[in-house]
Amino acid sequence: MITEKKYIVQSNWKMHKTHSEAMDWIESLKKGASDLMERIELIICVPYVHLRAVSDATSHFSQISPGAQNVHWETSGAFTGEISAPMLADAGAQYCVVGHSERRDYFAENDEIVNCKSKLLLQSGINPIVCIGESIEQRNRALTFNQLERQAITCFEGLTEGEMNRTVVLYEPIWSIGTGNNATSQQAQEAHHFIRNMLERIFSKETAQATRIMYGGSVKTHNVEAIIKGEDIDGVGAGSGSLNIQDFLKIARSCSNYLQ
Ligand code: PGA
Repeated sequence: MITEKKYIVQSNWKMHKTHSEAMDWIESLKKGASDLMERIELIICVPYVHLRAVSDATSHFSQISPGAQNVHWETSGAFTGEISAPMLADAGAQYCVVGHSERRDYFAENDEIVNCKSKLLLQSGINPIVCIGESIEQRNRALTFNQLERQAITCFEGLTEGEMNRTVVLYEPIWSIGTGNNATSQQAQEAHHFIRNMLERIFSKETAQATRIMYGGSVKTHNVEAIIKGEDIDGVGAGSGSLNIQDFLKIARSCSNYLQ
C-alpha cells in the first residue's frame, strides 16, 4: 500500500526570499529535479506574494506542487491583511501549512483554528499540511504521545476519511525546529508509528495507511539519510536547510536514492 503513495520532500521558505531570489531558486529546482524518482513530490511552501509566480513557473512540472504557509479561518470578510483559502486556490496553491509551531507561538494559532482552517482548505481544493509536535518539556516528561493525541483529535475533528487521505500530517517536534537538533530516526519513527496507529483508531486502517506522515525539524543534507529510514516516514520537510537550492536538491536526491 505504501508503495503507491507519493513521497514528499517539502521546502518551507518561511519569511525568506525576494521575487528574484525566489525565481532563481525555482529555475534551479526545475533543472535539478528531472533525475528524481517519479514517486517524489516536491512541495514548495512560499510566502503569499510568490505563489502565483511559482505556480505559473512550475505548471508543466507535475512533480512540483506550490504551497502556502498559512490561511485565514474565514473565506472572506473584514480581516485586514489576511488571505483566504479561495484566494490561495486561485493563486495556484495545492497545499497549505497549518498549525506550524511558529504560528502557534507568535500568532496564537490553536488546534481549533487549525481544524477550521483545514476544513476551509479542503473545501477549496487545497490539501492541508497539519503540523503537530511536542515541546522539549513534554518529551522530557514522557508526554509526547499525549500531546500528539490531544492535537490530532482536535485538528482532525469532523474530517471525512476522504478528507483525511488528502491531509498531510507533518510531525515537527518543537525542540527540533530551527535548532539543529533533529529527532533521531528512532524518535521520528516512534512518533510516526504512534500517529499512524492513532489515525487507524480515529478513522480506519485504510485511511491510516493512505495518509502521508512526514517529518520536519532541522532536516539537512547530512542527516536526511538517517531520518528517512523509518517505515512510517512518508517524507521530510526542511526549512533553513532548504533555502539554498543545491542543499534542497541534495535532500531530495537522498530521498530518491533511498526509494530506489
Ligand atoms: P527547520 O524548519 O528545518 O529550519 O528546522 C522546519 C520547519 O519549520 O518546517
